[in-house]
Amino acid sequence: KKEVIGLKNAATFPIGTAININRLLNDAKLQKLQIENFNSITATSDMKMQSILPVENQYNWKTSDTILQYATKHNQRLFGHNLIWHSSTPKWVEEKGEKDSIWLGNFMQEYIKTYVGRYKGKVAAWDVVNEAFESSGANYRESFWYKKLGKSYIEKAFQYAHEADPEAILFYNDFNIERDTVKLNAVLKMVNEFKAKGVPISGIGFQMHIRMDIPDEIIAYALKKAAETGLQIHLSEVDIIFNTHNDERLGGIQNYSVLTDEMKQAQAEKYKNLIKMYKEIVPREQQFGITFWDFTDRDSWIKGFFNLKDWPCIYDDNLQPKPAYFGVLDGL
Ligand code: XIL
Repeated sequence: KKEVIGLKNAATFPIGTAININRLLNDAKLQKLQIENFNSITATSDMKMQSILPVENQYNWKTSDTILQYATKHNQRLFGHNLIWHSSTPKWVEEKGEKDSIWLGNFMQEYIKTYVGRYKGKVAAWDVVNEAFESSGANYRESFWYKKLGKSYIEKAFQYAHEADPEAILFYNDFNIERDTVKLNAVLKMVNEFKAKGVPISGIGFQMHIRMDIPDEIIAYALKKAAETGLQIHLSEVDIIFNTHNDERLGGIQNYSVLTDEMKQAQAEKYKNLIKMYKEIVPREQQFGITFWDFTDRDSWIKGFFNLKDWPCIYDDNLQPKPAYFGVLDGL
């Protein structure tokens, strides 16, 4: 029988989890596991724009300060997720920006400078722009930001963040890039253009919300191509589901309703392979780390977001380690 030694103790790079801070602070058992296993922390939603600036001129630092306090106390790296994301733009920003794109450009600058500046030297790294490309294919997402400001909003966001904290590691983060080569190539083209122009980007985040049926070879290829940029590579939101989450996020397809032992073993293998590929393909100095998107099936976003019964995480509903946990440990 294998022993639980704490993932962070087995890893040669930071191991993190995204989590809801209030849930964490109110659940002693969850907290114990979080401290044992992880040395990096990300807020699932508490550091997005809708949480930080829900109302004009009323920055809400309470929760982000609490996360910082927790991270400091437990010696964990604090990862900032995220600065600009179409899905977390407050209504009031859309309403004002809709009428006045000059205002919107200025607002974006002020927001990033204020936020990154406040946590200068404290938030180690940021997802500066999240999901600027369509779910699949090569096109930029026709988001509110894109429509009002054009694609240059992306590089500007990186510039502002860099000016506010020159030491912070700045990521472009997206999903499906491990499986959709067309999308991956489009992201890499943007990243290489940024590098050539001196736009301060330091890393690529693979969200890695994957499914059991995505071939390891395809993931390996994507990691290799991304690592060739020389940038930091972060597996930023890892979870592995059995069912199908619809790319447009309108729901999922429930193919599996019961978790069998065989499925548990297969998932463990998939987790192990993912970790091993990261270790073997991404050069050591580019291994920024691996972050799980919640670490218990109980708390995972999949159920609520896609209306799917699934088992994406390394701990189960009762906060017991699954075979997937030991798969990760083996892979490390
Ligand atoms: C998710 C959170 O986990 C949910 O709680 C929230 O309702 C929606 O956002 N890609 C991302 C993350 O970049 O910010 C998302 O997090 C999951 C998909």
